[in-house]
Amino acid sequence: HNAKTGYVLVLPDANAQANYLADIILHQIEEKKDAVFRIALSGGSTPKKLYELLGGETYSHRLPWERLHLFFGDERMVPYTDEASNFRMVTEALLNHVNIPFRNVHPMPILEDVEKAARLYEENLQHEYGSRVLKNGEPLFDIVLLGLGTDGHTASLFPDTAVLEEKQKWVSWCQPKDAPHRRMTLTYPAIASSRLVIFVVSGENKVKIFREVREENAIYPSSKIETEGEVHWILDKAAGGE
Ligand code: 6PG
Repeated sequence: HNAKTGYVLVLPDANAQANYLADIILHQIEEKKDAVFRIALSGGSTPKKLYELLGGETYSHRLPWERLHLFFGDERMVPYTDEASNFRMVTEALLNHVNIPFRNVHPMPILEDVEKAARLYEENLQHEYGSRVLKNGEPLFDIVLLGLGTDGHTASLFPDTAVLEEKQKWVSWCQPKDAPHRRMTLTYPAIASSRLVIFVVSGENKVKIFREVREENAIYPSSKIETEGEVHWILDKAAGGE
């Protein structure tokens, strides 16, 4: 499966989109019965509504937090207190409102030496993956949530950066040309090791890039996302251009 052949669903608005996503996630978790469930969270602003919903009274008591492990798809290399921090956004929207065990939350480490930080996160992923299952080729993630930048980036896989060439490591980093902070990111191989990749796209400013990314010969970073599992695009009507 790849981003161009993935399945598309357009919901009436951002609230319906967030509710639909919450239901998909809950269903996938229930499918796995009592096994550990690993999800990589997207940053940016789009998924905030979903995270608030998961931490709210409709969903938070229905999620088995003790077997849910939350990872990050990417992070800005700023302190967790910085308003650009994805970890801060997820903490405020979700983690502050639920009883998830501390060891189940895996923020990307913030170090001046970003290469060392990436190696540490890779070790964390290998520990979580290796120590839990590694039977019958279980993928690294059950769900990877991804956003879509108007330049076609996703996670922090930005156009014209060397991280796009990384085919071995699960974690790397880049300095995007028009983003103020260095970024740590899951790589294509890490994202590909998943059961389900869900692109969450909302807002009319994404209409154009959404169409371009899925064109046959598109070469945006988002166009090249592949997975062992399935790719779903969940949009609100504004992004769907309807
Ligand atoms: C990030 C995200 C990034 C984001 C897109 C869309 O850390 O910013 O991982 O890939 O998903 O830039 O951002 P918005 O949701 O804010 O439009």
